[in-house]
Amino acid sequence: MSDLLTIILAAGKGTRMHSDRIKVLHKVAGKSMLKHVISTLDNLETDIICVVGHQKDEVKDEINDSRIKFAVQSEQLGTGHAVKQAEESIRKHSGPVLVLYGDTPLLRTETVQRFIEKHKKNASNLTIMTAELDDPTGYGRIVKNSSNLVESVIEEDDADLKTKEIKEINSGVYCFESGLLSNFLKNMNNNNAQGEYYLTDAVKYASKKRKKIETYMIKDSEEILGINTRYHLASAEKILRKRTIEKHMDQGVTIIDPENTYIDSEVRIEKDVIIYPFTYLEGFTKIGQNSIIGPHSRLVSAEIGKNVELLSHSIIIESSVDDNTKVGPFAYLRPGCRIGSGCKVGDFVEMKKAVVGNASKVPHLSYVGDAEIGERCNIGAGTIFANYDGKNKHKTKVNDDVFIGSNSVLVAPLNIGSGAKTGAGSVVTKDVEAETTVIGVPAHIYKKKED
Ligand code: UD1
Ligand code: CA
Repeated sequence: MSDLLTIILAAGKGTRMHSDRIKVLHKVAGKSMLKHVISTLDNLETDIICVVGHQKDEVKDEINDSRIKFAVQSEQLGTGHAVKQAEESIRKHSGPVLVLYGDTPLLRTETVQRFIEKHKKNASNLTIMTAELDDPTGYGRIVKNSSNLVESVIEEDDADLKTKEIKEINSGVYCFESGLLSNFLKNMNNNNAQGEYYLTDAVKYASKKRKKIETYMIKDSEEILGINTRYHLASAEKILRKRTIEKHMDQGVTIIDPENTYIDSEVRIEKDVIIYPFTYLEGFTKIGQNSIIGPHSRLVSAEIGKNVELLSHSIIIESSVDDNTKVGPFAYLRPGCRIGSGCKVGDFVEMKKAVVGNASKVPHLSYVGDAEIGERCNIGAGTIFANYDGKNKHKTKVNDDVFIGSNSVLVAPLNIGSGAKTGAGSVVTKDVEAETTVIGVPAHIYKKKED
């Protein structure tokens, strides 16, 4: 059992998103809001309980993390009611309890760490993370008394005009002394404009009990942006994208036009990579040192080696490209391709589940599906690997040092022996032996290896 217990609220539907998908599963920079929130706890020693409710199975599947336990809130009656679902664990816990909302994906790990340190150091009963906003609309306001002590948090819907003018807002990040939180949960009510059990009422409760309440105001108010609408989602996307791009530039990546480059949070890029504008690097993409990517390329969970040149308008999805290979322009690698080193996959080449051995070339205008190509092969322009007979998909194996003439059709299933050749325009329907040349439609032997 850790000294710290963290409760993440992720049960609410997110009505203001107008979506069939629960709010916390919407993605920001390629990763769900909830996963972003969980990542802020990465370096913290803490037990974690996530409160789920709406679409709870989908949320559990998304989290898929053995560190995290779940509490179920079957009816979404408010943030206080959500925390109450973890009441038993809170009661048993003696250290501080951190509460995070699942819709604040921009929070930084260091901020959360400093926040907890302050709470501990000052031996507070309750610490609230706050920020000062030019436009505080929609957030709960921090109300202080004449001695500048925090008295309550008033929600927008319950606020009078004077309260609405307060610029200091509640971020939804709290650190509680566990006993105080337990007592509040036993005593809370829903006498407010929304008829909900507000967690924010814990502040008034603590103040009445003369507990020590402190605020931790963060300067970078962007960090506590709570996502309630699609507009908020787009703002968060922009902020996170900028952060990610700056991180890569700090680590030695050249990004020609940061405003027009889109990199998901989990992407890894080694130094001296150059990324041209309008490039999208998504999912778990990795790029090795000195590679050049784009412009107008899209990589989805692609693994790119070192010194790779990915020319413009190329798309690589769930595939790998080894060192010193050139791809594109206008290449399309669909899932399951593995391209070796020193290869060329040229313009208007589409591949699917294709393995290409080192130093082989598919320079132009080809379709390569369900294929294994050996080393040092040359696949001529216009070659089609005909892998589909209308019912089933079949495989083609092309062994090392094969030369496929332009405009050949390789009708799978097929095996082409090493050193074999096909003449331009051949339609190859039968296996070809090693060192043999075939031509024609359907292809027949033109020349065999002389023994
Ligand atoms: C909340 C705060 C507000 C604060 C703002 C910061 C309350 C009453 N208000 O308002 O003071 O300024 O966050 O972003 O806490 N949730 C549940 N179960 C529920 C209701 C909500 O799990 O029954 C979860 C949601 O999934 C969400 C989080 O709690 O992740 C916050 O709920 P939301 O409705 O967005 O609260 P706000 O109105 O933004
Ligand atoms: Ca919110």
